[in-house]
Order: sequence, then C-alpha cells, then structure tokens
Amino acid sequence: MLKDQIRNLKNEAIGEILEAKNPQELERIRAGFLGRSGKINRLTKEIPKLSPEEKKDLGQAINEAKINIESVLRQTQDKLSVQSDNHQKWFDVTAPGIRPPEGHLHLVTEAIREITSIFTSLGFHRARYPEAEWDWYAFEGLNMAENHPARDEWETFFIENLENKKLGKGVLTPHTSSGQLREMEKYPPPIRMINIAKCYRRQSDISHVPMFYQFEGLVIDREISITHLKGTLDYFAKNFFGPNRKIRIRPFHFQFTEPSFEVDISCGLCEGKGCKFCKEGWLELGGSGMVHPAVLKNGGIDPQKYSGFAFGWGVERTYMMKAGLKIDDIRMLYGNDLRFLKQF
Ligand code: DAH
Repeated sequence: MLKDQIRNLKNEAIGEILEAKNPQELERIRAGFLGRSGKINRLTKEIPKLSPEEKKDLGQAINEAKINIESVLRQTQDKLSVQSDNHQKWFDVTAPGIRPPEGHLHLVTEAIREITSIFTSLGFHRARYPEAEWDWYAFEGLNMAENHPARDEWETFFIENLENKKLGKGVLTPHTSSGQLREMEKYPPPIRMINIAKCYRRQSDISHVPMFYQFEGLVIDREISITHLKGTLDYFAKNFFGPNRKIRIRPFHFQFTEPSFEVDISCGLCEGKGCKFCKEGWLELGGSGMVHPAVLKNGGIDPQKYSGFAFGWGVERTYMMKAGLKIDDIRMLYGNDLRFLKQF
C-alpha cells in the first residue's frame, strides 16, 4: 500500500517537473516533494510503525523514488538554464572570434615553395613534366644507353607492358633530369628551368624512401660557364641556408654532364670546422655539371652555339641540412604521424 503511494508520488513529481516553465517553479516542486515537510518525507514518518521486513522494503522504495526525482530535476534544470541563458545573456557581435587550432603545410611542401621562390627571383620558371616517363628522357637521351652500368644506381621502376618503339620502355621518373630534354624540346634557348617533382626508386631504408622529391635546375644560353653555375648555387645556398654558408664543388662523374661536380655546403653547426654532424666541415648536397654536348644535341640544341649547366638535388635531404635536423629515419617524413610533423 505504502509502496503504491510512493510510486504515485514519484510519477506525480516527475509529471510536474517536466511541465515546469522556469527555475523558480522547479524549486517550488522540489520543495513540495523532497523538502523537509514535503510529501515524500511525510511518508517516511510512517516507517516506525512497520515490521522490520516492511521497513526495509519501504526505505528502499523511498530512496529509489528520490534518486529518480532528483535526476529528472537536474536534467530539467540544465535545460531551463540553457534556455534562459540564450534568452538573457547579451552577446557582443564585435568581439574577436576564437581561432580554431590551425595546421601547417607539410615540411616538404614548405621546402618546395621556398626553393621555387628563390629560383624564380633569379628568372627561372617552375616546370612540371610527366612522372610516368619514357626511357629516352630518363636515360638514353641523357647519354646513358641501354645496358650502361651507370643505370644501376637509379634502381628504376619500369612500367610493365608499356613500350614506345622510338622512346623505349615506360619508367617512373627516377630523377628530375628527365625534365631537361623535355624543356629543350619545348622552348628554344635561353632556358632557365627549375623542375621540382616526385622521383621513384626501388629503395627503402633509414636514409631512402621509394618516393621522394628532387629539384633540377637547367640553364642554357650562349657562353654559359662554370662560373655561372657556381654563382647560381652560391646565391641559392646563401638564401636558403643563410648568409654565412658557403658552397664548394668537387669533381665527380655523371653521364649527362661534362665536367661533373658534387656540390657541398659548409656545415651550419660547426661553420666548417668539422663536427659529428658533417664530414670535415662540409655536407654533400647533390650533383651538378655542364650539360654534355650530346645531351644538348638530343634536345635539338646546337652545342657549338650554346652551352649550359644543370644540377639536381633531393628536396628532403636539402631541407634537413637547412634545419640542422638529424632525422634518424627519413621515412618519418612520410609516416603522417602528427606528433612528428607538428614540431616543424
Ligand atoms: N640526376 C642525378 C641524380 O639523380 C643528379 C644530377 C647530377 C642532376 C648532375 C644534374 C646534374 O642535373 O647535372 O642523382
């Protein structure tokens, strides 16, 4: 009997709470049911008259009813207070907004943009050529005939069942040098090209990724000499790495340049004295040289009239040298782990 009364009281209370229009009304309902002389407490006074068994039952029922009523009360209070906030609080439409957290470009994209802007300020134009290329542009036309042992170094991906009678097999560009012949075919000299593109090689270890970027410079004009090459690379190095950095060129060999050089930059950490990061004060940047006459001919340019220089370096490697970053594993650049990328 008493338990029925409790259930009825509980339903009555919840019904009223749900109908309440404002916090004051809610408070009145709360006091009416749960207050010291509220309806539920009045029932509690009946408890002493009961048998121990009944006492326990009724006590439990009262507790459950209170918990139930209180929870509906709390939810209704929240709902009503949100409504009244919306209604009453003023809102300053001229207050500055809160900026949501913003990401940034991938560091390789940032490096590409910076490299582009340094060379375009010298009058180079940014070129883009196919990533799926013919053997002719990637090798043969660059003075590396089929079966030439130098090709081994490029660890090339060939595209299955793709062959052109004149231009040879289909390849994924193993280096941006393929853009040299494309550029010569497209424009007559003077040429000032910077080709920044993805390159692919069958390699993956702590210092290599199968897809990476290179930037390739090509300048062809009358009477272009090694001094132009050295001056251009020096300008780039000082703008990209800082005014105190120096470059040097060392003799090397590439099939498509004669003479060929490897370019080094003075170490930014020890400023050329020699430290753990560098080799006796210098860090290796990449290849360069004077465009081989055979390559000019293959590009339809008369080597008697014109000469040129070229260079091709890895974007990731060059960027890491700028930042003095010793990234233990270059593959992290492309792992998309935000904890790593956010640091830059
Ligand atoms: N293509 C060469 C490589 O991938 C780099 C290179 C060397 C590019 C000398 C050049 C150059 O333009 O002149 O290793």
